[in-house]
Amino acid sequence: MDARVIIAKLRDEERLSDEEITWFANGLANGGVTDAQAGAFAMAVLLNGLVKEERVALTRAMRDSGQVLQWDLPGPVLDKHSTGGIGDCVSLLLAPAVAVCGGYVPMISGRGLGHTGGTLDKLEAIPGYRCDVSVERLQAITASIGCAIVGASADIAPADKRLYAIRDVSGTVESVDLITASILSKKLAAGLEALVLDVKVGSGAFMKTMEDAEDLAESLVETAHGAGCMTSALITDMSQPLVAAAGNALEVIEVMETLTGSGVTPALWDITCALGGELLALGGLAADAGDGAGRIARALESGAAAEKFGEMVAELGGPLDFVERWPDRLPSAPVVREVPALASGVVRAIDGHALGLAVVELGGGRKREGDRINPSVGLSELAPLGETVSPDVPLALIHAATEEAADAVEQVVRAAFTIGDAHPTIPPLVHRRLR
Ligand code: URA
Repeated sequence: MDARVIIAKLRDEERLSDEEITWFANGLANGGVTDAQAGAFAMAVLLNGLVKEERVALTRAMRDSGQVLQWDLPGPVLDKHSTGGIGDCVSLLLAPAVAVCGGYVPMISGRGLGHTGGTLDKLEAIPGYRCDVSVERLQAITASIGCAIVGASADIAPADKRLYAIRDVSGTVESVDLITASILSKKLAAGLEALVLDVKVGSGAFMKTMEDAEDLAESLVETAHGAGCMTSALITDMSQPLVAAAGNALEVIEVMETLTGSGVTPALWDITCALGGELLALGGLAADAGDGAGRIARALESGAAAEKFGEMVAELGGPLDFVERWPDRLPSAPVVREVPALASGVVRAIDGHALGLAVVELGGGRKREGDRINPSVGLSELAPLGETVSPDVPLALIHAATEEAADAVEQVVRAAFTIGDAHPTIPPLVHRRLR
């Protein structure tokens, strides 16, 4: 086959065969297509789109470009993917809670992207936690304790690794077809029986409008079904941070408070139960999503999910006593500064994107690939929508490495909150469910 012919067909809006798509995906993985050809392919897909069958074929081919895990376990292999937001630390509760309920969760997660935090960066705030394990170790830990949250090894979907890097520098990240194939190829390479997708919408999400979120959710669900994985999606609200913190160790604190019952964040609890409930129902471990949500809630309430989280942390190199001693084990920033509101009123809107970028600026995320993250920095005690604030009631606390770093973001953080007189309408946590 010839990459030029495939690209020209895309350009001229002609249908590609499964064989052509598979050949191109393999060429991405093994170097048979050049960077220029990969960039042209991505741009042609972005401009002209793929039909469902082509999107499914691309997803399958990218999944199969590397290792696809095989399992022989007494329960279903399940996973969740979130499109990312601010204070979105659901995975840290959901994976152990689903494992307590009989599922097996080999969760291959990512690092921070743009203004959003990444699950792996949050876990690495726990001293000793190692995300870079082999596929064999991921399988062994998942089989023995029921869940493992780790990074993708080089063997998982190498075609996506190459195409993603090229999209990043060729103005083609935004294609819904390519986002779909990229997300699903990595997730499905874990050999899942069922997947739940958390598609976030709002100021702190990548999808700012409901129309864009619905497009992506529909594409993801339709393609995952086409590739043979039972999948549902919840479109969930990101018009305010999910928890009152943004930053790696600060979000782990929120997770531990909710897991151990010492300070439950209702939104985090409710979303974890909603997504976990969907997953248990898809995997045949609950009669329906409501029954599943109840099972997840019991796993959280009983402390069994906290215990399971502790087992996972210990297996992956973290402290053996993390669940008992987490307040002593997490790093903290030397500078903690209040951001007072300049006027009195209620919080009417929150610019989550700006808050996320403030965390990156503080050193809690990367500006360039390879930047080192400071796990202790970020924001906490973020005022939620509808909160009454005044010059005496802070909008947030900044946790910074230096006074200068705190100075650099203070005004950005303040400006991220719109203060007014009228109480805002608080959006529901779950906007829509797609199956
Ligand atoms: N996350 C991914 O893994 N791929 C994309 O294209 C976008 C978000």
